[in-house]
Amino acid sequence: MTTTRDLSASDRAHVFHPSTNLRQHAHGETPNRIVVGGKGITIVDSEGRETIDAFAGLYCVNVGYGRDEIADAISEQAHKLAYYHTYVGHSNEPIIRLSRRIVEKAPPGMCRVYYGLSGTDANETQIKLVWYYNNVLDRPQKKKIISRWRGYHGSGIMTGSLTGLEPFHKAFDLPRPPVLHTTTPHHYWNARPGEDERAFSRRCAAELEALIQAEGPDTVAAFIGEPVLGTGGIVPPPEGYWEEIQAVLRRHDVLLIADEVVTAFGRTGAYFGCERYGIRPDLITIAKGVSSGYLPLSGVIVGEAVWSVLEQGSEKYGPLGHGWTYSAHPVCAAAANANLDIVDREDLTGNARETGAYLLNRLHEAFDEHPMVGEVRGVGLLAALEFVADRTDRVRFDPALKVGPRVSAACLENGMIARAMPQGDILGFAPPLVLTRAEADRIVDIARRSVDAVAAELR
Ligand SMILES: Cc1ncc(COP(=O)(O)O)c(C=O)c1O
Repeated sequence: MTTTRDLSASDRAHVFHPSTNLRQHAHGETPNRIVVGGKGITIVDSEGRETIDAFAGLYCVNVGYGRDEIADAISEQAHKLAYYHTYVGHSNEPIIRLSRRIVEKAPPGMCRVYYGLSGTDANETQIKLVWYYNNVLDRPQKKKIISRWRGYHGSGIMTGSLTGLEPFHKAFDLPRPPVLHTTTPHHYWNARPGEDERAFSRRCAAELEALIQAEGPDTVAAFIGEPVLGTGGIVPPPEGYWEEIQAVLRRHDVLLIADEVVTAFGRTGAYFGCERYGIRPDLITIAKGVSSGYLPLSGVIVGEAVWSVLEQGSEKYGPLGHGWTYSAHPVCAAAANANLDIVDREDLTGNARETGAYLLNRLHEAFDEHPMVGEVRGVGLLAALEFVADRTDRVRFDPALKVGPRVSAACLENGMIARAMPQGDILGFAPPLVLTRAEADRIVDIARRSVDAVAAELR
């Protein structure tokens, strides 16, 4: 079974793919690409085709593909100690080193890291910790969690509920209580006529406060948000947004969970997105960039104030009834340490800031006047193009035209992966943080050619 054809037939018969049209895939109606290798920002498939990956997998391969140093660290640790659990105080050296470096670089006040294997499971842990925290404090009714429409926090039962995107709810009986959603902080679509970014941010905060008051502040436990909306469309926050939101949360004793699954470890041009936007969270979620996807790893970084209550919990309830077989896995931690060594040594945070600014400028040059593009936006090495049918009146395309997916498909034909974000007509860019200016130029050139091709089809 070595030819692409054989592999593909077997894939269609045996592999259950996430986020895929199951029927079309099973019956060979949609493409099936078998990825066999990668180097830098490029992946290679079983046909030998090279493609620029301008989305770093699922915005996770921050150090780029083919880093022998991480593969070697994985091998070395697997030979030394492939596994031991971390229940009842057992530990391993890679996880101790990793936790210390994360806490030292995290925003002020963070003290400990709990580990999982995906952003989803880490956010499930967040919800449980917030509930536990309020039980320890004898506030059993304070359990509701507020997220934003268009937020993305995973696709479990509770995390899929936190996610505010319709494709992740449909036919799964989600969202479920006690999850509530509030205003999407996207000025382009949601501002009222004449409302500037500051005024729009104040209104987002006022709407959050009204929701908390309507529900009763003694029933609202936490607010979760990505510093920069990611899967919902790659939308940097409007000016003043986080300042206003945090003031509301403080007034009502509501914990703040910063979901930094995408933004942590340099992506926005700061080591943590919280730093970039002046966010002082109580809890932080990390995944993706911590290991650049070389092995799965996620974490919950806990702040001092929450930690002290969790400690009281052990007095009240005994040992914490939460944990997974693979929490704090030593080989995943070794991969993460080698990955973060690269991030530091090559100053990939600085590169995300500088080459990110260059990429965004080039996208502005190429698309600000394009008749099909309503907004060009981004921060660090995150960027997006929002496609509209009418720029003057800000009219969306008919979803049936599938403009976003068509542009993404045209990019692929032209040798580049850029992601059609799951809701709306949005093309997302989140290349590996090793991107050079020459590579940024190629990304913009391919994007321009691809958007022009779809624009021509639509005319
Ligand atoms: C902000 C955010 N949180 C959580 C998740 C879920 O992570 P995972 O897919 O590893 O479960 C994602 C995934 O894209 C994400 O972008």
